[in-house]
Amino acid sequence: MFNEPEPIRDLMEALQQSPDNVVLRAHVGGVLLSRGQLAEAEEVYREGLKLTPASEKLMLGLAQTLIQQGKTSAAMVLIEDLLKRPGATPHAHMIHARLLLKSGETTRASVAYRRALELDPELADEALAEALGIAGEQDDLDDMQEVDSEGRIRLRAESPGEVASPIEMERPDIGFDDVGGMEGLKEEIRIKLIAPMRNPEIFKAYGKPIGGGLLMYGPPGCGKTYLARATAGEVEAGFISVGIHDVLDMYLGNSESKLHALFEYARQNSPCVLFFDEVDALGAKRSDLQGSAGRQVINQFLAELDGVKSSNDGVLVLAATNAPWHLDSAFRRPGRFDRVLFVPPPDQEARAQVLRVLLKGKPQKDVDADTVAKKTKGLSGADLKAVVDRAVEAKIRDALSSGTPTPLSTSDLVRSAKETKPTTKEWFATARNYALYSNQGGEYDDVLNYLKLK
Ligand SMILES: Nc1ncnc2c1ncn2[C@@H]1O[C@H](COP(=O)(O)OP(=O)(O)O)[C@@H](O)[C@H]1O
Ligand SMILES: [Mg+2]
Repeated sequence: MFNEPEPIRDLMEALQQSPDNVVLRAHVGGVLLSRGQLAEAEEVYREGLKLTPASEKLMLGLAQTLIQQGKTSAAMVLIEDLLKRPGATPHAHMIHARLLLKSGETTRASVAYRRALELDPELADEALAEALGIAGEQDDLDDMQEVDSEGRIRLRAESPGEVASPIEMERPDIGFDDVGGMEGLKEEIRIKLIAPMRNPEIFKAYGKPIGGGLLMYGPPGCGKTYLARATAGEVEAGFISVGIHDVLDMYLGNSESKLHALFEYARQNSPCVLFFDEVDALGAKRSDLQGSAGRQVINQFLAELDGVKSSNDGVLVLAATNAPWHLDSAFRRPGRFDRVLFVPPPDQEARAQVLRVLLKGKPQKDVDADTVAKKTKGLSGADLKAVVDRAVEAKIRDALSSGTPTPLSTSDLVRSAKETKPTTKEWFATARNYALYSNQGGEYDDVLNYLKLK
């Protein structure tokens, strides 16, 4: 240490005097790093982190030092830990991007890079962008500043070569008759979606615009997807189901034109129902949004949606979400998802129907689905499946010990139902808060009605 040139020796001395001065320590570390004294730099940062473990400055310095030493995975662990905290800086995302690129995860790397630029456009790095294959995107990124680290867009980690799964059309063999109960919902779909498609001239004559989509929301497992498929079956149309991941993959494949192609495909295959599941993840509020991939794909998606101007196209657009409160309000504008339907847990009639379907082909004797339905209020379709599965398991256990298989009975199912907790409770606890405190324009009135709070 005696041979150190003046400034660094002074700095080291100063640091010994005040070891918990983070600014000074980060500075010393930076100087050592720039001089290539990597082991010393690492020591300085590590010492500091013992005193102030939460310091982002020191963690970033240490990460950089580790990278320079070729300790890539140690650096990755550190950065990922850092990024889990709220308010991580753009620099953290930048380093993350470089690390990901190094480990061959180009797709995730470009997401991290975009994220860094959203937070601080000054960080733009031509060479890095080039390596990521996204050079020249800067202009598009400039107007995307509103972000927050609690993003809802989830991106799958993938190798760059992976291609989005091809979209396929299905011909559902279920119609509204297979949907138990839910008469109100079926009627709304008939009037709002099916009738305009079948009689466009009538709607035009009254100056009623057609087009736009219908958004279903409600607790999980209560039939949103099922109802969408049944709608397609009801009008003998094709059914194209698009998950959020498919759409993001399209974007990440760097070809938004694929999203356009999807809508085109739907038009060419009309009549059909184009169904977007988990649309909340796609339409996350700007403030919830992580990664510019999301913002861009939303704009593209909305443009395509606006393009389905006339139901003459024969394309019915349906979407479903468990978390409507996370949906960007841009989605609710007229001509988009301006019609919103609450899909509650199945009513008694629906439950009986679900049970009958679930019990088909199982050994049973005089099972009265209506009685079981009466005793399963609040249970979702998925919960009812659990009831039946559990009852069947109990039967199998009995049969194994007694050696004589016996058929399912009403009381077997009622017993099983008593042990099954509704999974919709948690959803309602959340929804209740939004409905009570964030109910602009009465958008959650149906939830309040269901909870008898109105
Ligand atoms: N009204 C209903 N009639 C018949 N089956 C239903 C009904 N509601 C729900 N189900 C059953 O429950 C399952 C779960 O519903 P699903 O549509 O996947 O729920 P969500 O999309 O709302 O999460 C469906 O596959 C279907 O078998
Ligand atoms: Mg679903």
